[in-house]
Amino acid sequence: LPTYFTLPSGDKIPAIALGVWRAAPGEVGEAVKAALKVGYRHVDDAWIYGNEREVGEAIRASSVPRKDIWLTSKLWNTFHAPEDVEPALDESLARLGTDYLDLYLIHWPVAFKKGGNTVDFDLTENPYPTWQKLEQMVEKGKVRNIGISNFNIRRIQNLTSNPLKIQPAVNQVELSYWNPQPELVKWSKENGLLLEAYSPLGSAEKVKESLEIPEVLVIAKETGLTPAQVYISWHIQRGTVVLPKSVHPVRVEENFHVAPLSSDAFERLEKAATSHEPFRAVDPHWGIDIWN
Ligand code: A2P
Repeated sequence: LPTYFTLPSGDKIPAIALGVWRAAPGEVGEAVKAALKVGYRHVDDAWIYGNEREVGEAIRASSVPRKDIWLTSKLWNTFHAPEDVEPALDESLARLGTDYLDLYLIHWPVAFKKGGNTVDFDLTENPYPTWQKLEQMVEKGKVRNIGISNFNIRRIQNLTSNPLKIQPAVNQVELSYWNPQPELVKWSKENGLLLEAYSPLGSAEKVKESLEIPEVLVIAKETGLTPAQVYISWHIQRGTVVLPKSVHPVRVEENFHVAPLSSDAFERLEKAATSHEPFRAVDPHWGIDIWN
């Protein structure tokens, strides 16, 4: 399996990241340290996760140089107004204790009005002003790559129909056995847009059930991989970056060991995942139909 994917900028993004959403203060630092120790070189954070400071401290406490680590953060919905973008980024940089990010994403295709969580429909339907500000952050050297998250095909095309100077490097979305999004995977491949899979094990709500799916248990037995490793391998084989979250060092290590599935095993898992009604583990209700 590839250990990295190459972005349009030429940068190489490691295929496996430690996800830190819902990794609580007091435990996230240890998870980051454990991850760096077993070979992870990619941490996927966000302003809204509230743990950037501890993540940054753990990175600096490790013996791994900053330049060897791929660090992602995300712009929260309240900061889409062009004048709010750079201060929000600066806050993430200060908390993480670094002077650049490898990747900065628009967290959701939803802009909130200042100071609240009611939707700003104009800025939501026209994200170009926000994107132009992100392009400026690349020009300033504060971020190396910029991308999007939770964008469906219509929203991607709505953004990229503008005269962008920099195309989105990635789209980070929920991808799992429960919500495998085969159309988006196919479209993204055809259009050269790398996907990043969040909640790749089905998130806390579904992980237990994920690890008991019969098809996965069979593949685990055939390959000697654990069920979690089968899923993580499957994601990379689908051509996506994968962001498993755990705060337990043993699981963090387990999730880093992947292996290619035979094409037969891959197809069996793909078929099982795409043959049931999809279920979204992450589906916020903010008074807007985000998925349309
Ligand atoms: P914990 O952090 O307590 O280890 P996802 O990556 O799909 O969001 O899934 C994260 C959930 O899966 C978390 O509840 C995490 O719990 C759990 N998890 C992560 N890795 C494993 C694993 N290898 N085996 C079992 N559960 C896991």
